[in-house]
Amino acid sequence: MPSFAESVRANPALGTADVATLQRLVTDWHLLADLSFADLLLWVAQPGPDDGPGAEPRAFRVVAQARPTTGPTAYSDDMVGHQATAAELPLVASALRAGRVVRDGDPQWRDRVPVRLEAIPVRSGGRVIAVIARSTNMIGIRMPSRLELSYLQAASDLSTMISEGTFPPKDSRTDLSRLPRIGDGLVRLDPAGVITYVSPNALSAYRRFGFAGNLLGSHLGRVTAQLAPSGSPTDEALAAMVSGEAFRATEIDSVDGTLVIRTLPLLRAGERIGALVLIRDVTDLRSRERELMSKDATIREIHHRVKNNLQTVAALLRLQSRRVKAVEARTALDEAVRRVGSIAVVHEMLSQGVEDRLDFDHVADRLLGLVADVSAPEATVTPIRTGHFGEIPAETATPLALVLTELLHNAVEHGLQNRPGALMLGIRRYRDGQLLGRGGVVPSVGRPGAAGGDQSRAALNGAGQNGAGQNGAGQKGVGQDSAGQSGAGQDSAGQSGAGETGVVAVNAVDALPDEEPPPALRAVGFGTDLIRIEVEDDGQGLPEGFDLASSGSLGLQIVRSLVSGELKGHIEIAARRGGGTRVLLEFPTASI
Ligand SMILES: Nc1ncnc2c1ncn2[C@@H]1O[C@H](COP(=O)(O)OP(=O)(O)O)[C@@H](O)[C@H]1O
Ligand SMILES: [Mg+2]
Repeated sequence: MPSFAESVRANPALGTADVATLQRLVTDWHLLADLSFADLLLWVAQPGPDDGPGAEPRAFRVVAQARPTTGPTAYSDDMVGHQATAAELPLVASALRAGRVVRDGDPQWRDRVPVRLEAIPVRSGGRVIAVIARSTNMIGIRMPSRLELSYLQAASDLSTMISEGTFPPKDSRTDLSRLPRIGDGLVRLDPAGVITYVSPNALSAYRRFGFAGNLLGSHLGRVTAQLAPSGSPTDEALAAMVSGEAFRATEIDSVDGTLVIRTLPLLRAGERIGALVLIRDVTDLRSRERELMSKDATIREIHHRVKNNLQTVAALLRLQSRRVKAVEARTALDEAVRRVGSIAVVHEMLSQGVEDRLDFDHVADRLLGLVADVSAPEATVTPIRTGHFGEIPAETATPLALVLTELLHNAVEHGLQNRPGALMLGIRRYRDGQLLGRGGVVPSVGRPGAAGGDQSRAALNGAGQNGAGQNGAGQKGVGQDSAGQSGAGQDSAGQSGAGETGVVAVNAVDALPDEEPPPALRAVGFGTDLIRIEVEDDGQGLPEGFDLASSGSLGLQIVRSLVSGELKGHIEIAARRGGGTRVLLEFPTASI
């Protein structure tokens, strides 16, 4: 189906300016449809192949259609694209020829519905460029009430303006999201700005706005200006409304409410005969918006205060730690400082948005930075994060931050024993058995560098020795096991893609065939992702006879209880192949 512009331009006499005019017309012509309780069809002449310029058009095509919201439609079908000959559309043809509104005497019968037809020529730059066929479903017209008569009168005025080329206005652009429609509230003004008709909804809107008197016979501009707080920037808009001279749309606040007001001057033969004012009461809408905004601000503020309070608690504990002599007590206090600090990181991130979730990569990087800072100054631990957490619900973020802090800290404290070495945090996130990459779903096999965790594994395995620069010189662990990882070495040969990071990527799934099956294969419910985290160090390794389940010290106890409780996940701590320790943590999280 051709576009609106294409259908219009099928008539070679019509140019881009005409397309623009017709486009402005159809964004506003619902006013005419509503005021006249009528369906509108926009017909454009379609000249035949051997029609000379200026020939009487023999065929027409519908390029746009509008239905009234105030009455029943006369067309149950979509008419756009429909074609008809001039002989079938005598009214349209004669409106085009005569350049003025043409009415049918008697209603026509369409599908056993009486329809009254009227053809309105659309004038632009002195020419008639299209014709609006207006068909009123007469079943809907009862004994006309005052409202209906006022509507029909306004419709007739608008029709005249369209045929004279003064509607649609050239500069009626506005940034208001939804302009009022006829049904929201209609006021008619005389040329002096005095109200000659108020629809019931318009009256209600003004009552809500704070007006108690009689609107009929009042000066709308003055009434409105009295209610709006003086000195508000709406003065100019009000002035335009008072005179009814300009096409304007504006939003006005009073103490009691908010109105969106749109003014349409009515012109006939260049003379101003009055104005239509459309009014919409948006008081409830705006107060809901304000409520939501203040709720967002409150949530942010609370997170901010929680963060500040946690930082205060940490500072107090730190002060106390400096004063105690007993080493054990001091260590305990320092650990408490660290734990409180990692919760504060989460709240700091939460305070930056209004969502109940956060991008955990930022949190993880902050925690990695904190751990690196804590390690002894001579031990240059360069932590590496590979892969992405992505967004994580706020309630998961705090336990996860605590668990990570403990694991990273143990890796530096016990694994590397405050000596230089490699510390790696690898993250993979799976959805429906697929590894999620930065740019969406990436296959879990065969994409070097795309899978989180792979690069650092290579760094740790020493598969690519160019990784050494990143990890510092003193990595006695690096390289010592590379002989046994020949499979990994082979794989990495052609993988130059990750070269810019200084680490050669190895596809872990291929390189380590004896690894457990991809975790995504384990059952996770719909709408749930699986996050798999590896924390590895190439340090001392676990002590003889280490058993996570029976480890009674506080750090791993916290880890165990958070993983099984809050995170509902699974954790394993074991010797890392090639030396050091490897912690594997998996837990489900909402697919955000
Ligand atoms: N990455 C690691 N490398 C070596 N040993 C570790 C590692 N992580 C934990 N451990 C061992 O597990 C023990 C318990 O750790 P944790 O519960 O955190 O207590 P703490 O850190 O206070 O000793 C540690 O003392 C250490 O022996
Ligand atoms: Mg510990």
